[in-house]
Amino acid sequence: MSNELQNIKNRFGIIGNFPALNRALEKAIQVAPTDISVLVIGESGVGKEFIPKIIHSESRRKHQPYIVVNCGAIPEGTIDSELFGHEKGAFTGATATRKGYFEVADGGTIFLDEVGELPLQTQVRLLRVLESGEFMKVGSSQVQKTNVRIVAATNVNMMKAIHDGRFREDLFYRLNTVQIDMPPLRDRKGDIHLLFRKFAIDFAEKYRMPELELDPSAVHYIENYTFPGNVRQLRNLVEQMTVVERNRNVTVEKLAEYIPMETHLPMVVNTPNTPKQNDFASEREIMYKILFDMRSDINDLKSLTSELIKNRGAGDLSNHEKSLINRIYTPESQQAVNPNSLLYFENNNGPVQTPTIISNPDDSYEDVEDIEVEEHQPESLSLQNNEKDLIIKALEKHKGRRNKAADELGISQRTLYRKIKQYNLEE
Ligand SMILES: Nc1ncnc2c1ncn2[C@@H]1O[C@H](COP(=O)(O)OP(=O)(O)O)[C@@H](O)[C@H]1O
Ligand SMILES: [Mg+2]
Repeated sequence: MSNELQNIKNRFGIIGNFPALNRALEKAIQVAPTDISVLVIGESGVGKEFIPKIIHSESRRKHQPYIVVNCGAIPEGTIDSELFGHEKGAFTGATATRKGYFEVADGGTIFLDEVGELPLQTQVRLLRVLESGEFMKVGSSQVQKTNVRIVAATNVNMMKAIHDGRFREDLFYRLNTVQIDMPPLRDRKGDIHLLFRKFAIDFAEKYRMPELELDPSAVHYIENYTFPGNVRQLRNLVEQMTVVERNRNVTVEKLAEYIPMETHLPMVVNTPNTPKQNDFASEREIMYKILFDMRSDINDLKSLTSELIKNRGAGDLSNHEKSLINRIYTPESQQAVNPNSLLYFENNNGPVQTPTIISNPDDSYEDVEDIEVEEHQPESLSLQNNEKDLIIKALEKHKGRRNKAADELGISQRTLYRKIKQYNLEE
């Protein structure tokens, strides 16, 4: 490893030796002296925020301002004014002219976190400032100039956001001149124990407790855990255990109480030995699992449907299609698909564009109505209830502080606001 990389790791307290992590950090060091826009992509909690800090500190802008903007946390109505400033009288409450971040950060760097959440009208302004360095305050017609380096980060699938019309393609390519991918923790198993030890030391010091230690079976367990919340989840886990656990030697059984491997909701919820204080952590874990399972089911459904549409309105199924159908529609994977239970409707105008799959009522496949009318699926209902419960718990835990609650839930503050409204949780 180069000295430079090691220095950066020491300076920022970055732990890990996994090649993909090293590559990401090295790329950041390499592009730092240029003014190239960088887009950091990675799941929530992987350490994306180190990248813009490294870039700024290794650039000639390092003595100029560094501003972090969490695009998901600023209400849609004020974000333009926050970023670009406003004129006095531009809107009700604009009692004085105000500078925006792009003016304040002139000469420095702006980190646009959760950039995928930017409203479309702000994306237009951002594109302009990226292309020409020009912007206008809200309510002003005077063009101003600024010289700002942009590093942006996202954990959303930008291609999908572009496809859905929520993100401008031209802006994406402008931001993404250089892309830095931060690998998820489950892909760098070797770093998990290192990180555990670092956090154990940090929190032992912070709470004046002896350090936690993993016994060998617990090391194996934790290295094979998927960590949907990545390093942030591991950090929270170690903090919680440092404070709560009396025994400093962490066994696999103890660890399993905090981060159960089970994937199905009823199995975990009904486990009598799940201690009360861990309910929140394990419920969140279950939520993550359900969401991941749902996402992969939806993807499978999409590819199945598109293959069917592409190939024909009716006809034989390929093996691949059968296996996809098996995975999607068969509750327990022991059952093989019965092609006779799949019918294709034809309408009067010839073959239908979208084939409909119905099941034989005598067999155990889920009824097609269950698939089409989502509200009738018990899982999606319980998901909603759980979501509401989790939000209430997170708000209680953080005494109503929404930024902390959103962080814990792994969602943006704007999403949290929306959900609070949706579930009528405002006091
Ligand atoms: N490699 C690492 N070494 C040490 N701490 C890390 C590492 N990666 C992430 N963290 C810590 O995990 C937490 C989440 O990181 P953050 O950069 O906020 O994630 P993201 O922005 O990707 O959601 C922070 O407390 C960060 O310091
Ligand atoms: Mg972040």
